[in-house]
Amino acid sequence: MKTIVISRFSAVFFAAALFLTGGMAVSASAETAAENYSLYCVQCHGTAGTGKGINAPFLAVAPRNHSDAKAMGELSDANVALAIKEGGSAVGKSTQMPSWKHNLTDAEITDIVAHLRKMCKCTGAAK
Ligand code: HEC
Repeated sequence: MKTIVISRFSAVFFAAALFLTGGMAVSASAETAAENYSLYCVQCHGTAGTGKGINAPFLAVAPRNHSDAKAMGELSDANVALAIKEGGSAVGKSTQMPSWKHNLTDAEITDIVAHLRKMCKCTGAAK
C-alpha cells in the first residue's frame, strides 16, 4: 500500500513539475488529455470518439459522436465542460453521461475540451 501512495505522490509531483515548466506544458497537457480520454471516455465514446465504445450498446441513449463536427459544433465549450464536470443531467441530457468532477480537475477538463475540438475539427458555438 505504501508504494502506491508514494507513486501517486510522484505522479502528482511530476505533473506539477511539468505544469510549472511553461513551454513544455503545452505538449504535456495535450498528451494528458488523450490519456484521460483513453482512461475515462473510450468505454462509451469509443477509441475513435465516434460514440461506439464497448459499453455503448448497453446504454439507453447513444453516447455523443465526438468526431461529428456539426453536432459538436452546436455545443459551446462551456456546455461541453459542464457536461463533463457535472454529467449529462446538468445540461439537460442523459444521466448515462457521468459526472467526472471527482476524477478530473478543472484544468484537465479544459484540456479535454480542447482535445474534443481536435477530434471534431470544429469550434464551439458562441454560447
Ligand atoms: C458510461 C458511458 C459514458 C462515459 C464513460 C462517458 N460518456 Fe460522455 N456521454 C455518454 C452519453 C450516453 C451521452 C449522450 C447524452 C445525451 O445525448 O443525452 C454523452 C454525451 C457526452 C457529451 C455531449 C454533451 C452534450 O451537451 O450533448 C460530451 C461532450 C461527452 N459525453 C464527453 C465525455 C467525456 C469527455 C468523457 C470522459 C471523461 C465521457 N463523456 C465519458 C456516455 C458516457
